[in-house]
Amino acid sequence: MVQFSQALAILLATGVVAHPGGNINKEVQRRQAHLDHPYRRNVGECKRDLVESGWVREQHMRREARLHELRVAAGFAKEGELVRRDPAEAEASYGEAAACTLDPEATEGPYWVTGELIRQDLLTGEKGVVVHLDINVIDTTGCKPVTDAYVEMWGCNSTGVYTGVQAKGNGDGSRTAVATNALRGVQPTGSNGTATFITLIPGHYVGRTNHLHTIIHHGAKLLPNNTIQGGTISHVGQFYVDQNMLSDVEKTTPYSTNKQAQTKNAQDQLFNMGKQGGDDPVLHISLIGKTVADGLYATIDVGVNPRAKQNPQPVNMWTSGGGIPVPNSPWAGYPDTCKYCGFKPPKEKE
Ligand SMILES: *[C@@H]1O[C@H](CO)[C@@H](O)[C@H](O)[C@H]1NC(C)=O
Ligand SMILES: *[C@@H]1O[C@H](CO)[C@@H](O)[C@H](O)[C@H]1NC(C)=O
Ligand SMILES: *[C@@H]1O[C@H](CO)[C@@H](O)[C@H](O)[C@H]1NC(C)=O
Repeated sequence: MVQFSQALAILLATGVVAHPGGNINKEVQRRQAHLDHPYRRNVGECKRDLVESGWVREQHMRREARLHELRVAAGFAKEGELVRRDPAEAEASYGEAAACTLDPEATEGPYWVTGELIRQDLLTGEKGVVVHLDINVIDTTGCKPVTDAYVEMWGCNSTGVYTGVQAKGNGDGSRTAVATNALRGVQPTGSNGTATFITLIPGHYVGRTNHLHTIIHHGAKLLPNNTIQGGTISHVGQFYVDQNMLSDVEKTTPYSTNKQAQTKNAQDQLFNMGKQGGDDPVLHISLIGKTVADGLYATIDVGVNPRAKQNPQPVNMWTSGGGIPVPNSPWAGYPDTCKYCGFKPPKEKE
């Protein structure tokens, strides 16, 4: 058993600075509050309504068709040769995997940049294993898809560096990453309650397993410059990737060139808490071709209470001139001098 604090002390001593994930105390507290919340419901509790309305079947068939379309486009299948699974099977197993709930779930972490563009393709030149994400948002208070929300998504690049921010330990800590909005963006849910993105499987960084961040916005106003403003946030969460698939991804370049220490899912406290309370924040992933390098299709259903109000704090705002600091952000100065720097290191399990 290695104490995380010892591991950190060694990293600090050797001059490799701990990254955002080092400080997950607030996130752990928030996730626990969510699990303890008396009004909390997970997606599985909406199973009967969603199956009876035909939505589960429709979404299952839509996702099968989408995966087939991606395979055809990449040359791994022929049009008109879609083999469908019995939708009754999908209905029977609904809510058992790749579904998570929310009102307070996990925090935004120190690297949320507000003001990101509404766009589906978040790659902006970043290289790695491409994932087509298909996220369904469900109102667990009324057991219906949420058709008028905006889903925001961000993750680090394949070598474990976030764009839009500058912080010690985020890459080389220089300002280079501030100038790009790669791997960040926003999508509306639309008539099926589905937000779709094209992004990368994130790389790893010190102290956390690979993860993608998400925030769900309600009642936000669409601005003429293709960004959103105002409204409320019901959900702040993180998505994960199955460990076997992660191992395959990490073997490919550029992931394999990342020198930061790796944390596996099983050793990550937030991952383990994310799996409690009937939730499953692990993406359901299919290969588009023969290997992960051919691209992935990932689906997940997120349950929210649209009236819940979270108050995540951005560190920066994206502008046409790059990322600029948000005045008085409690994350400013991370990891040394920020208001949210309180540090109680978790124990790392072997
Ligand atoms: C919603 O799903 C149906 C199939 O169930 C599909 O035909 C339709 O294009 C989808 N709508 C949107 C806006 O994606
Ligand atoms: C990840 O971002 C950092 C900072 O911009 C950059 O130096 C690095 O090359 C990027 N990784 C890859 C694989 O491009
Ligand atoms: C979009 O417009 C808002 C409101 O005028 C402004 O604050 C923001 O900086 C703009 N964003 C971009 C990326 O141009």
